[in-house]
Amino acid sequence: MKGTPVTDKVYDYILEHFSAEDDFLRTLNEEAQAAGIPAIHIAPDQLAFLQVMLKTMGARYVLEIGSLAGYSTIGMARALPEGGKVVAFELSAENAAFIRRKAEEAGVADKIEVHIGDAKKILAGYAPDHQFDFVFIDADKSGYTTYLEQTVPLLRIGGLIAGDNALAWGQIADEDAEGNDVRGMQRFNKALVARLELQVTMVPIGDGMAMGVKLF
Ligand SMILES: C[S@@+](CC[C@H](N)C(=O)[O-])C[C@H]1O[C@@H](n2cnc3c(N)ncnc32)[C@H](O)[C@@H]1O
Repeated sequence: MKGTPVTDKVYDYILEHFSAEDDFLRTLNEEAQAAGIPAIHIAPDQLAFLQVMLKTMGARYVLEIGSLAGYSTIGMARALPEGGKVVAFELSAENAAFIRRKAEEAGVADKIEVHIGDAKKILAGYAPDHQFDFVFIDADKSGYTTYLEQTVPLLRIGGLIAGDNALAWGQIADEDAEGNDVRGMQRFNKALVARLELQVTMVPIGDGMAMGVKLF
């Protein structure tokens, strides 16, 4: 049976009751837009989902690829225990500066480490002294399959990897899609599903999160 359609009315209900967005995050988005940063962050209900998932896993270490203005970064940091860390890879130095400032204001600066640059290049030489509980991919869509290959080895057994925009703005099933971003997401989903060490699922929240838990 197909799921229940999320009409505007139903989505308003979800946002009213199941949003992780507070005044701080609302203001963060307003300031980000005033600073010229586009509003392409995850949705408030997606953040609630990630926070519940991180708490359920008892996650300490999160790797985020693509952090924009820090909405998801700060949101996830809030779900981590003392000593936990979100390691954020962000291409834009301006965005990184914005994230660091907001992390200080949010009181989670000790839980956020921002690395500036192309995540593919950073990951190529990245050797953390711990494994990650969760990897969240939300950057350039054409890079997702590379990020998948680079980060699965960094995940602990039982850890989760997720890619946002896994429904590709509604075009994921369009075989003739021409956009690079859509094709990037189609390649990513295919590569994720093909990884033998991952048990996968598609969560149709926001623009879709394709996820896999590392079994071995
Ligand atoms: C969709 S936004 C991330 C939204 C963020 N996760 C949130 O929900 O608040 C994508 C981000 O990926 C960054 N990005 C794009 N290409 C990148 C790359 N090659 N390496 C690292 N970051 C990249 C962009 O600068 C942008 O800030």
